[in-house]
Amino acid sequence: MSRLYFDANATTPPHPEVMEAVRRAMAEDWANPTSTHREGQRARFRLEEARRELAASLEVAAGELVFCASATEALHLLIRGLHAALGDRPAAVFPGEHSACLNPLRDWSRVSWLPEIPMDCATVVQLAASNETGILYAMPSALDAVRIKDCCQAWGKVPVDLSDCDAAVFSGHKMGGPRGAALLWLRPGLPWEPVMEGPQERRRRGGTEDLPAILGLAAAARHLTERQAMNAALASVRDAFEAEITSWGRDIEIIGQESTRLPNTSCVLFRGRNGEALQVALDLAGFAVSTGSACHSGAVKPSHAILTLGYSSDDARSVLRFSMLPDARPDEVEALAAAIRRLT
Ligand SMILES: Cc1ncc(COP(=O)(O)O)c(C=O)c1O
Repeated sequence: MSRLYFDANATTPPHPEVMEAVRRAMAEDWANPTSTHREGQRARFRLEEARRELAASLEVAAGELVFCASATEALHLLIRGLHAALGDRPAAVFPGEHSACLNPLRDWSRVSWLPEIPMDCATVVQLAASNETGILYAMPSALDAVRIKDCCQAWGKVPVDLSDCDAAVFSGHKMGGPRGAALLWLRPGLPWEPVMEGPQERRRRGGTEDLPAILGLAAAARHLTERQAMNAALASVRDAFEAEITSWGRDIEIIGQESTRLPNTSCVLFRGRNGEALQVALDLAGFAVSTGSACHSGAVKPSHAILTLGYSSDDARSVLRFSMLPDARPDEVEALAAAIRRLT
């Protein structure tokens, strides 16, 4: 049975050119970029070439980018490094943030939920697009605070603007790149201290760089414009899907429908239904989708991102997230809607 994948916000299949770039790098550019011999120097050249290419695509300077293994790692380095420099002051974070931002903020003694910004705030953390609802958020204006933007879900789906922030993170595997490569962007002069020591990445992130993954990320970034255009075209497919499933007269609500959203994401509340059971039924029917809940130690916890919007725990347990890959076809989305109709 052929399967249809609607979980692009979790991860995406690597672009064919990414696979080829990673394969080639593993065969030819496996040397350590820190080594001083010719093999190492060649690896160093390829690493810096990829950094320049990615920096040009983000319109920042190459020296401002730090290669990390994941956005989770980048956010930990960023938030912990700010804490080392400024931790006696408070922080403010968007309550629907990803746990990759919320966890490193546990070191801070005072953290407020945005839109509240405490006096003398050291940093504000705001995602550009929610992984669960797809809602796009603006960076709050915060005088004298380091403004951190989590661009993981926005990159490759909508334009990313770095003019209103001081640091940002990007994840490769959400936009057709490989796992194992992510970016941390730091505006020069930030009050930040490295917390993962080592000589690599100008002493900002220790550990041998994963060159094959990084070259794969650079290959993915070459297709960003095209990917963004394909994603933009999904808005009408997504709207047709939402119009169809809400027309059945069942208790179905689209979360964030009135907000500006990622064009590929539909976060649906099937009020009174068990989201997990529906996700399993769809999986058995051939559709990979995601619940809004996270499974921790065997217990299904309702998603804080949904609770934050004012929904009850029961409602949050009744949510499914459908996130389309850029090449999703209208007939595939119609097949998904038909399966949902059969199963609800
Ligand atoms: C908004 C957001 N931030 C951060 C992350 C973490 O990214 P990574 O998987 O690269 O650690 C994710 C991944 O789900 C995300 O959606």
